[in-house]
Amino acid sequence: MTQVDVLLGLQWGDEGKGKIVDVLSPQYDLIARFQGGPNAGHTLEFDGKKFVLNTIPSGIFNEKTMNLIGNGVVIDPIILKRELDNLQKAGHDPVAKGKLVIARKAHLILPTHQLLDAANEQKMGKDKIGSTLKGIGPTYMDKTGRNGLRVGDTTLPDFKERYNRLVEKHKEILSHYDFEYDLTEKEAAFFEAIDFIKNIPHVDSEHFVNGYLKEGKTVLAEGAQGTLLDVDFGSYPFVTSSNTTTAGACTGLGIAPNKVGSVYGIFKAYCTRVGGGPFPTELDDEVGETLRKVGHEFGATTGRARRCGWIDLPALKYAIMLNGVTELIMMKADVLDGFDTIYACTHYEHNGETIDYMPYDIITVKPTPVLKAIDGWKTDVTKVSKVEEIPAKLSEYIAFLEKELEVPIKYLSVGPDRVQTLVLN
Ligand code: GDP
Ligand code: IMO
Ligand code: MG
Repeated sequence: MTQVDVLLGLQWGDEGKGKIVDVLSPQYDLIARFQGGPNAGHTLEFDGKKFVLNTIPSGIFNEKTMNLIGNGVVIDPIILKRELDNLQKAGHDPVAKGKLVIARKAHLILPTHQLLDAANEQKMGKDKIGSTLKGIGPTYMDKTGRNGLRVGDTTLPDFKERYNRLVEKHKEILSHYDFEYDLTEKEAAFFEAIDFIKNIPHVDSEHFVNGYLKEGKTVLAEGAQGTLLDVDFGSYPFVTSSNTTTAGACTGLGIAPNKVGSVYGIFKAYCTRVGGGPFPTELDDEVGETLRKVGHEFGATTGRARRCGWIDLPALKYAIMLNGVTELIMMKADVLDGFDTIYACTHYEHNGETIDYMPYDIITVKPTPVLKAIDGWKTDVTKVSKVEEIPAKLSEYIAFLEKELEVPIKYLSVGPDRVQTLVLN
């Protein structure tokens, strides 16, 4: 029997998960998304083409790989249909090829979930979470509140009545906000998309994935967002509404913890965050601006400018512990090519103490990062294709991180394209 490998983000999302899942997908029979929804934007580049996936797993471009949208994912049928339409226009049709299945137990994002997300954010004003406005929070609230609609419900004869009942509830809540809306167009698009997704095979992800394992096939679980956005362990309340950690792969697919194999933790050579909330190493100056420009740090889903800062080792150690990371993957090393000196946060000064963990009151008392200066490599690494060509100073940075984090860095990414990936260990 095989095990499920897991690949997930160790920071605040956008680490480059899409690119690496695509790179690893030839090694796997099945790629399975386990949480989140179209708040995710996973970018892949190959053969001069670029794709951004929101709901569809990033194994879709590999001929032999099956892709599953798991029960832990929240699906917006309108967005899923649009993703598939766009892929079809680009000559890729995973549904026709039988390469995409969705879990019956995955919950549906309704147009009114998006309205609730927007109304709530508008009311919070400057204290808003900075959500992607895709309706993620309200959909997971209905899931845990036991009101939600699931993919499997779309085939029931009374689906429309169930939908209407939930929408009435939402309208009642919306009436308490000073928020105007018109549902007509969205509702029509929703039902059109519901008809469309009925053509994608519906499966029980727990049986589907365990069946793969029983047959000795290989499975990779693809995370969305990042560990520091986890609803339990992230910088609450500035988090998303799902468990983005390895545990989320168990509940989001229906696999037991002892079925988890390798855990790939992916991080950028620096750090970014989009939306509100604490970010100890944030650089609100021209260095941050340079990282944003060179790294093209603008959201793949919302286009918002990402906040940028130096790498945060206490945060990474925390993420490695929570996820049981067995191998690290470092992304976007090339973005640091031009710096004479780069910095790594090794500790925080917090309430008069030096600590190396993320404190509970991180929201109310901002920690001051303790930074270690590191020599830059001042070399264009985007064309480096062999380990021997890695500049010595970059190798030193990698060795320093491995020593601090106590986990080997297995892959190094030096550009957005599939081919700009090196195997280190
Ligand atoms: P994800 O959400 O974790 O899949 O990451 P995103 O797609 O939101 O953001 C990562 C961005 O960085 C995308 O625009 C990628 O094309 C790009 N990218 C990925 N790896 C590298 C890299 O090594 N170097 C550079 N310069 N860009 C990268
Ligand atoms: P990928 O998978 C980066 C952030 C939002 C906001 C918070 C809550 O591409 O890494 P939500 O819409 O989930 O209620 O927003 O989480 N966020 C992300 N940030 N990458 C993502 O996904 C994100 N998905 C949500 O910006 O701060
Ligand atoms: Mg992203």
